Amino acid sequence: MLRKRVYQLNRQITPNQIYNEDCIRFMQEMNDQGILIDVIVTSPPYNTNKEYGIYNDNKERGDYLDWLQNVAVKSFSVLKDSGSFFLNIGNRDPQLPFLILERFKQADYKLQNTIHWIKSVSIDPEDIGRNNGLRNNNDNISIGHFSPIVSDRYLNNLHEYIFHFTKTGNIKIDKLRAGVTYQDKTNIGRWKTAIRDKRDRGNVWLIPHLTIQESRPHPAVFPVKLPQRCIELHGIKPNMLVYDPFMGIGNTAIACGRLGVNYIGTEIEEGYIKIAEERISGKIDTYLHGDEEDLI
Ligand SMILES: C[S@@+](CC[C@H](N)C(=O)[O-])C[C@H]1O[C@@H](n2cnc3c(N)ncnc32)[C@H](O)[C@@H]1O
Repeated sequence: MLRKRVYQLNRQITPNQIYNEDCIRFMQEMNDQGILIDVIVTSPPYNTNKEYGIYNDNKERGDYLDWLQNVAVKSFSVLKDSGSFFLNIGNRDPQLPFLILERFKQADYKLQNTIHWIKSVSIDPEDIGRNNGLRNNNDNISIGHFSPIVSDRYLNNLHEYIFHFTKTGNIKIDKLRAGVTYQDKTNIGRWKTAIRDKRDRGNVWLIPHLTIQESRPHPAVFPVKLPQRCIELHGIKPNMLVYDPFMGIGNTAIACGRLGVNYIGTEIEEGYIKIAEERISGKIDTYLHGDEEDLI
């Protein structure tokens, strides 16, 4: 059974729902109800003319930046002082992430970490290394999806940013929860801080999109693993609450389900909420993805 969606105002906001509302208006309601958030993780529209349904993804650049600054200001007011805001921004327009950074700074946020989300990569044979168990037969290793050559000026875009904003720039995070095991186990105990088989993953995250053959229900999603790792990096605490203002088809909600933490989402396109709810309830597979130009 799908959970009943709640549309009317003056209701009590409850966790583990996606609300069919404008995020700025909704955050005002959170203020009114005194609701505070531990982690905001989201990917807003990038103003690259994607077809989202209701939302117009082709605003004048200044209007777009003003709007996103309003989102930033409002989000600051619902985020706990100890909270984290992970903002995923693509760079098809290469200047855009830096203009957005400036707007978040004006909203009083501090940039604590910059994470590079690598969607695809090719490693030349001579750079593969000898002791990591990867095959080395003089061919390159390629992971993820690659586009055909469509431009003789611009490189294919295989990367997006995840800006980790906090209120102070100095919030303790759980690097080992989001970490990786040592390849060379002799490192354990060698360093004062290496007391178990986990090390800092660092700020380069390779998370390829899944290959899907069927039609895509949403033009711009991130993989579940992305919000999942962001939440883990912030640290899992009892009764914590995660908010995704631009929930799309529910990948942040699914990540929260996997981690056993509560979420709230907003999304203006009702059809996406329906898909999200079906995915969350396990009615349909958490299929996905890709940018349209991906080769599969
Ligand atoms: C880049 S997509 C997010 C996709 C999501 N991360 C996922 O994996 O499914 C941005 C979403 O924001 C929604 N949106 C645009 N303006 C909004 C607003 N003012 N309030 C809430 N949602 C909005 C769009 O309909 C779109 O689904």
